Amino acid sequence: MRADDRLSIGDLADRTGLSVSAIRFYETKGLVASVRNSGGQRRFLRADVRRLSFVLIAQQLGFSIDQIRRQLSRLPEGRTPTKQDWTRISHAFRRELDERIEALTGLRDKLDGCIGCGCLSLRKCTLYNPQDRARRRGTGPRYLLGDRPEAG
Ligand code: FES
Repeated sequence: MRADDRLSIGDLADRTGLSVSAIRFYETKGLVASVRNSGGQRRFLRADVRRLSFVLIAQQLGFSIDQIRRQLSRLPEGRTPTKQDWTRISHAFRRELDERIEALTGLRDKLDGCIGCGCLSLRKCTLYNPQDRARRRGTGPRYLLGDRPEAG
């Protein structure tokens, strides 16, 4: 690959709409990698435009940097990913999205049940949490995340 086939960080910023500092941040997090030219300047693959676009979309969908890095680790490093490479990552990403949709749908349905109900039933209510007992299960809204309230 010729050196001028690669993009400067400014060109990559122009192509993706990201700031140069955001690209540097993603580089420190291992989401994109550059090589240095003879002048010591960062150079990126043209394929990194797509890679960073994927990062932006995944972040908008609520994926963490670590989760995105895990997805991107399925792509080859140092060469332009093929259609097959992107298909593989797309299938894995879709599975994660399906799981999220299922979890969100369940959460929405539980909330629908409680809004306007007000019973705070110890046996079935996902909001009721006397003496903060749910804390023993971990952090966050435990009953909404799927833990069952204890009797008593
Ligand atoms: S308030 Fe009735 S089930 Fe939650």
